[in-house]
Amino acid sequence: MAESEPRENLQVHHDQGVCTIVFDRPNKKNAFTQAMYRGLVAELDQAAADPATRVVLLHGAGGVFTAGNDLHDFATNPPIGKAAERDESGLPRHPLLRLLHLLPRFEKPLVAAVQGPAVGIGVTMLLHCDLIYAGEGARFSLPFVNLGLSPEAGSSLLLPRVMGHPRAAELLMLAEPFTAATALHFGLINQVLADEVVIDRARSIAQTLARKPAASLRATKQLMRAPIAAQLEQVIDREVEVFSQRLVSPEAREAFEAFLSKREPNFGKFE
Ligand code: COA
Repeated sequence: MAESEPRENLQVHHDQGVCTIVFDRPNKKNAFTQAMYRGLVAELDQAAADPATRVVLLHGAGGVFTAGNDLHDFATNPPIGKAAERDESGLPRHPLLRLLHLLPRFEKPLVAAVQGPAVGIGVTMLLHCDLIYAGEGARFSLPFVNLGLSPEAGSSLLLPRVMGHPRAAELLMLAEPFTAATALHFGLINQVLADEVVIDRARSIAQTLARKPAASLRATKQLMRAPIAAQLEQVIDREVEVFSQRLVSPEAREAFEAFLSKREPNFGKFE
């Protein structure tokens, strides 16, 4: 099994045509720092360009998928202003914003294995994966509203499309954690498995895909995704605009401060 160059809080392995990217920051529940987004973007770029990589598998270390964006990072270093500028390729320079644009454009099959918490972008990135397996103990949540934020990664378009408006509204507006059984029922994932077998099962599925004709898989994925690709780009841009305003809102400040000082937020003081 080949190893890539070291990346901060990511493990990357290559085996039998499958590039496995593991989110590895267990003491912070694999919450994503900018360095992790940068590493993930670089690995996805590399996987896209490398003909030996036929499938990408995503999972977390330590029985956790990811607690989403690092809230300390959001509070101190929000991806707004200069950070949101684009480079000559037209993609944003900020690694989170760049990832949001790269995920829907990724042409090879993406497989995900979810154990434990999957929060925020830990759920919305699944909307860009093709096959998703979750352990019985997985707990998904989209707490954007509870943090004074708004949906990202195209989820305001993709969630209602996958499950219908009422279910999407339940997940995005009530914003309560939901189980793997609910995720399956709502059409967000493919299968619920025992926690201890979920990664092996996803790996074996990824290896099965890696043995299939790669061009045919790419064409299939492209045909399924193309009808809404342009709309999705626009929605992602609009979401980033709204999210950027929300990130520096007093409600978001209160929510981040409350989380980091381990207290309940008080939104009663805001209109
Ligand atoms: N950003 C920064 N730190 C985070 C984090 C995040 N998104 N999620 C967890 N952590 C840190 C905690 O602050 C804690 O750090 P500490 O040990 O230094 O105090 C450590 O990770 C363990 O988290 P803890 O909350 O004690 O674990 P838990 O098992 O009780 O709960 C979660 C796990 C994921 C449910 C909970 O951590 C959580 O809700 N995190 C925030 C998720 C979130 O809102 N993400 C942003 C979405 S936009």
